Amino acid sequence: AGREKVGIHDKFLELGGHSLLAIQVISRVRAAFSIELKLQDLFESPTVAGVAQAIEKRNDGTQVTNQVKDLRAEVILDSKIQNQSVAFEDITEPKNIFLTGATGFLGVYLLSELLEQTQGNIYCLVRATSSEKGKQRLQRALESYSLWNETKSSRIIPVIGELSAPLLGLDESQFNHLASQMDVIYHNGAWVNFVYSYSVLKPANVLGTHEVLRLASQTKIKPVHFISTMSVFSSSAYSDKQVIFESDSLDYTPDNDDGYAESKWVAEKLVMEARDRGLPVCIYRPGRITGHSQTGFCNTEDLFSRMIKGCIQLGAVPNLEGVFSDIVPVDYVSKAIFNISQQKESLGKAFHMVNPNDIYVNEAFNMIRSWGYPIEQMDYEKWRTKLICQTENSNENALYPLLSLFSEELPVNAEMPRYDCKHTIHGLADTDIVCPSVDSKLLNTYYSYFKSSGFLNAPQ
Ligand SMILES: NC(=O)c1ccc[n+]([C@@H]2O[C@H](COP(=O)([O-])OP(=O)(O)OC[C@H]3O[C@@H](n4cnc5c(N)ncnc54)[C@H](OP(=O)(O)O)[C@@H]3O)[C@@H](O)[C@H]2O)c1
Repeated sequence: AGREKVGIHDKFLELGGHSLLAIQVISRVRAAFSIELKLQDLFESPTVAGVAQAIEKRNDGTQVTNQVKDLRAEVILDSKIQNQSVAFEDITEPKNIFLTGATGFLGVYLLSELLEQTQGNIYCLVRATSSEKGKQRLQRALESYSLWNETKSSRIIPVIGELSAPLLGLDESQFNHLASQMDVIYHNGAWVNFVYSYSVLKPANVLGTHEVLRLASQTKIKPVHFISTMSVFSSSAYSDKQVIFESDSLDYTPDNDDGYAESKWVAEKLVMEARDRGLPVCIYRPGRITGHSQTGFCNTEDLFSRMIKGCIQLGAVPNLEGVFSDIVPVDYVSKAIFNISQQKESLGKAFHMVNPNDIYVNEAFNMIRSWGYPIEQMDYEKWRTKLICQTENSNENALYPLLSLFSEELPVNAEMPRYDCKHTIHGLADTDIVCPSVDSKLLNTYYSYFKSSGFLNAPQ
């Protein structure tokens, strides 16, 4: 905007390009050349010259590959990050807790859980221009999910920083001070974005994790509870397995140019490397996190909410025969993480946070159809074409910003193995925390929230 001329070597992102603009570029290239560029092409070759080259390559059938091919070579942990002392002090009642990503969806629930279940101060890494603004952001985030508790609020301490910067964007003395004061770390912050490529997400997701591990190892050893994702297993190489266990190693790198999964894979590998060097770490891998099972509060910006709204707007759902919904309510995930993090035996292990009582996506779609909206079920290809047609002239469909996810080939695979969650079930055995089943009761709770919050209009 406001630029007279764009040079062929000017970079798209530096010109203020974002995923919506990129989708428009892709849609124009599709119309003009009948070529399906991938969003990654735009971010990996973000200039006019680069896009021209990508078009040529796609034209002659050459695959345009991601610049970072060897993800394993990305797993580089500073040699200073290690546990030189023999044992660390196991603190059951931490006075000072460090939490990242507290303004996000899972983060507010984790923050609320830590406020309710501990007596400690919670130091929250937050992006803001001042401590006051940081605190306001945290308050607003808690309030938006009805979780603000004035009486406990003095225990929330904003730490103004940035995951993608060295030392988390803190100056050395502040970083050293935190390193000497914190008792435990919950690293939940990440750039959760299914559209951008690995190289765009790497600073926040990979370097951020690296610096969190530095904080954990410096001055005194602190346990790190790292929030990963089931997406670290999104490689077709797993499709001949029936079950993926929590102790399985991450042998295969994610495929399908999924930059988010790639960045979380490298981050998790860094955490595993730190574990091998003696740091006390726990890894939590949630499935798709959805709204609170009792209050219905949902993140209306996420893929789950957008998929529901977008399909209603389109009047159509794709037939996803054999694909599971993989959804886990946020209250279960946050309570499970906190409880498991309290047990010393958890250190060194990974925990799958998936729904043992899951249903097929098609069954969930049928429940949505029972809400009374006119919705037709159709083959994925037809559904995709309909979605692209609707978004060509208007950006009102809730799926518009995520259009690039719906590739020509079905982006979900019914052949993927199921995820075992024995460690999690075992870790919760002495509690009353159970994962709510995916059923019409749960979906209707979300539906009530969608209507009361104005996200969805009732059917005409
Ligand atoms: N949502 C899911 O279905 C799901 C599933 C499995 C795993 N997970 C994992 O769970 C964690 C939380 O996910 P979420 O859905 O709650 O994400 P979210 O709502 O997008 O929140 C992300 C949080 O990370 C912070 N953050 C992002 N980039 C940052 C940066 N460069 N510097 C500092 N803070 C930064 C955000 O801060 P701002 O408010 O400043 O942007 C926000 O607080 C992530 O690690 C994610 O990988 C999520």
